[in-house]
Amino acid sequence: MTFEEAKVLVEELSTKINHHNYLYYNNDAPEISDQAFDLLLKELETLENQFPELKFQDSPTLRVGGTVTKEFPTITHKYPMLSLGNTYSKEELVEFDNRVKKGLEGQQYEYVCELKYDGVALSVTYENNYIKQAVTRGDGVKGDEITNNAKTIKSLPLKAGKELHSFEVRGEVFLPLKEFQRINTEREDIGEALLANPRNAASGTLKMQDSAVVAKRNLNCYIYALLGENIPSKSHSESLSLLKKMGFNVPDYYKVCNSIDTVFDFIEEWKEKRKNLPLDTDGIVIKINNYKQQEQLGYTAKSPRWAIAYKYESESAATLLESISYQVGRTGAITPVANLSPVLLAGTTVRRASLHNANEIERLDIRVGDTVFVEKGGEIIPKVTGVDASKRPIDSQPTQYITQCPECKTPLTRSEGEASHYCPNELGCPPQIKGKIEHYIQRKAMNIDGFGKETIEQLYEVGLLNNIGDIYSLTYEQLIQLDRFAEKSVNNLLEGIKKSAEVTPFPKVLFALGIRFVGATVAEKLAEHFGSIEALSKATFDELINVPEIGERIANSIITYFSNEINLNIIHTLKQKGVQFELLEDHSTPKGTNLEGFTFVVSGVFTTFSRDELKALIKSNGGKVLSSVSGNLNYLIAGENMGPSKLEKAEKLGVKIISEEDFKSMINQS
Ligand code: IVH
Repeated sequence: MTFEEAKVLVEELSTKINHHNYLYYNNDAPEISDQAFDLLLKELETLENQFPELKFQDSPTLRVGGTVTKEFPTITHKYPMLSLGNTYSKEELVEFDNRVKKGLEGQQYEYVCELKYDGVALSVTYENNYIKQAVTRGDGVKGDEITNNAKTIKSLPLKAGKELHSFEVRGEVFLPLKEFQRINTEREDIGEALLANPRNAASGTLKMQDSAVVAKRNLNCYIYALLGENIPSKSHSESLSLLKKMGFNVPDYYKVCNSIDTVFDFIEEWKEKRKNLPLDTDGIVIKINNYKQQEQLGYTAKSPRWAIAYKYESESAATLLESISYQVGRTGAITPVANLSPVLLAGTTVRRASLHNANEIERLDIRVGDTVFVEKGGEIIPKVTGVDASKRPIDSQPTQYITQCPECKTPLTRSEGEASHYCPNELGCPPQIKGKIEHYIQRKAMNIDGFGKETIEQLYEVGLLNNIGDIYSLTYEQLIQLDRFAEKSVNNLLEGIKKSAEVTPFPKVLFALGIRFVGATVAEKLAEHFGSIEALSKATFDELINVPEIGERIANSIITYFSNEINLNIIHTLKQKGVQFELLEDHSTPKGTNLEGFTFVVSGVFTTFSRDELKALIKSNGGKVLSSVSGNLNYLIAGENMGPSKLEKAEKLGVKIISEEDFKSMINQS
């Protein structure tokens, strides 16, 4: 490919990728699959590697991150980042409105009502349209410079619209609820402690050292303010429209209101509706619309006099913390749990709440005997949000976090930078043993019919089940003697075990083994790459980290797993019982064979299909896609604007040049 051809293609791909990012992150309405999107990105990345001059400062490939920052520089904000006065009462809103009325001495005025997004404030400066610097709020005067991490936020333009050149925007970075759930499901799969809530997760993510990890978290950012010397707009609502035009993610849920009564209507309107939004919100922000009037009203030391936040009453209750117990997960992760005096909260009786980890207990200074506040957030498990200090008993003592496993008494460990404590007695600690078996039999893994948590408990208690290998040694004679087991349930269980071994494909088996950090997706990638447990078990550290998506942490964990004799013995047992440890050919989707034995190169722009769609069609019809024209090539599918050199080369080598229409009839032939 010539430089000129590459340039056209790079532009075309960048526009396409930016467009799909916009649809996904700003409009919440994607049009292509994640895989199709990844293919576009990969194509662009390959071109940029081939022609480094074509990697521009606003290339969408920069969004995947890759820079590591050990310490974020401290930056002083050009305009301090103030906070908002807030209230839970409508009477106080009326008082706020009266103060505004008085301050504006009889002028007409409008408010803009927005939702109060529950994330982390960020200031982003642009120079000559390019993103220059992103800084966290910090103490309001100084914050951390986290530009590389911010660049991974796909809705934040790397190059903003031409309407303005140098300016600052402010907004709220958040982890969409869907992402929060996706990450926690993944963490549950690999036995990691769960993220406490989307807000903490967003804040922690922005301060991660490796921007490639940040990129994978798919943060988003709603913009709510425009600042600078030469701002053309006269009001906040004009700025919001302008920002939207410039490509920023300004959500549509705001309204200009001309009286405090219409503000109340807005509050009522969003009271329930906000629960359907893609992020957590905790109230409404009410701002004077006109900039001149904002100036006239001015500021207190901490917050503007022209704005206020109205917070919705969260459903919370106060109750006694009777004790703290500690749960041990399948990987040994310890989760502290609050045992509460039963209390009614949002229609259900709450007895327990998660305390997440030692840091959280310390941060809130939670002590047994305290009266604590519990709240139901977006998450299902209620959380302890604080302590009523006035009710603390005088003899109360700070909580001493446990140092030994509550189940097997092994001293706990806590690695550098980890929030959770772990019990390292992996093979001897009862909840870890049972947890690993539960993980193995679950639907997403071996999906063994007739098996459940209680069965595991019962079989473990009588000594029949000590590891996943034991599942396959269970016999009719052993089971029929046990309580709750009748002939039918015994047969169901044995049949379920046999069938699962036969039908469960290797990637699921690999996930089922419960290797630390190997979740369902990673297991699929590994299975596809290595093809068998044999090959995987022999892979070196370097071979492992060369697999896309596999980092050092996963590689080390795999090596540790396969260097343990006990694990190798278990795998040996499973193999003998017919569990699949090799990737079999996928016969699930019937494929066409029209193109079998033929090779193709796709070049140029097409009308019916995108290049990726054409490539997928070739593969699904049995053909092979090559990246360049050579003597081995059978067909060149030529679209509009394809490079002349490719065409020339194909002609010289006698390669058949076909159109999109020719290709369509090739695949439609029976
Ligand atoms: S405007 C002078 N608008 O609330 C402060 N802030 O307590 C101007 N926030 O740090 C802020 N949604 O992180 C504004 N629609 C919104 C907001 C919002 C959430 C946060 C923001 C700020 C905090 C102020």
